[in-house]
Amino acid sequence: MDPTERFLRACRRQPVDRPPIWIMRQAGRYMPSYQAIRDKVSFMELCRSPELCTEVTLMPIDQIGVDAAILFSDILIPLEGMGLDVSFDDRGPRVSPPLRTAAEVDGLRVDGADEEVAYVYEAVRQIKTALSGRVPLLGFAGAPLTLAIYAIEGGSSRNRHSVRKMVYEAPEVLERLLDKLATVVTRYLRHQIDAGVDVVQIFDTWGGTMSLADWRRFSLPYTARIMEGIKDTGVPIVHYALDSAHLTEGLVELPCDVLSVDWRQPLSLIREQTGGRFALQGNVEPGVLTCADEHIYAAAKACLDDYGDGPGHIFNLGHGITPDVSVAAAKALVDAAKELGAR
Ligand code: CP3
Repeated sequence: MDPTERFLRACRRQPVDRPPIWIMRQAGRYMPSYQAIRDKVSFMELCRSPELCTEVTLMPIDQIGVDAAILFSDILIPLEGMGLDVSFDDRGPRVSPPLRTAAEVDGLRVDGADEEVAYVYEAVRQIKTALSGRVPLLGFAGAPLTLAIYAIEGGSSRNRHSVRKMVYEAPEVLERLLDKLATVVTRYLRHQIDAGVDVVQIFDTWGGTMSLADWRRFSLPYTARIMEGIKDTGVPIVHYALDSAHLTEGLVELPCDVLSVDWRQPLSLIREQTGGRFALQGNVEPGVLTCADEHIYAAAKACLDDYGDGPGHIFNLGHGITPDVSVAAAKALVDAAKELGAR
């Protein structure tokens, strides 16, 4: 079956010969070939170079044989277009200045923010040309809430004190920020779609840190607005949330095609809870990739057996691949998913 057709059909819960497989963060630090590029350029320089992004995006297609490519970039890139300084060091991302006041949020650029990062759309065009139809290409963006958390905290934060304070003391400032982010992300994804991506994924990685009530207020409406804003393109939409078992009754309200979930609950249970209305992506625990091949094989089998024969499964990890994994282990997972999925 043609890989693009297989992927699109899986998103739409139509029968396929086997579930497609790709891996979140499949192009990254676990690959010596990626490290070799990073020895020469910074992460931001890499993101700003369509040529290097193309080279990196294709690495996992060639080296581990995944069934889909994902644009090489980062969810924080649009924040740069909005006027914030984005950088990455050993401790993770830095966003400055951290947004804390209404005046700081009001100062963020919306109009033109999408054009500031036009190098991303050029990367999509070059990747599509380089792939020449071998596999489909996913585009992506961060959900407004997840982007807001990085912008408010100024980077990764264990306890998210500043965000929590804003939820209680100044929810209207948070809502104003989310509103701006939703507008920029909608335009950003439309550009990626115009440039040729076949599927888009929205990452609400930190959505699960909120209660169901707060997620309903501060994430659902903004992500739903983005989804409605790109729906007319017909491009399937995937939603990812980490640690989101308590959000399921809210997630079903998202106007998307695929829910990507972590490893904490079996896909069969989530399918039951969501009434079979979504294709499901996931959900092997990333840690198994540091184990011997027999464990990787068993984990792939358990995931496929749990989902069963029904349509609408996109095989993936429950979160991104970690830097301590070997390329051989990643390939073992892909090989196992292909072999076992074809039965
Ligand atoms: O999946 C892919 O291969 C495509 C590229 C991609 C990256 N980041 C490259 C990257 C994608 C889809 C992302 C999304 C992203 N970025 C998310 C959502 C998914 C998730 O993992 O939860 C988040 C939360 C970020 C923010 C981010 N970017 C963090 C926290 C970090 C540092 C820690 C880490 O995991 O690496 C990054 C940096 C980053 N983004 C790297 C890569 C390959 C490593 C940069 C380096 O080379 O040093």
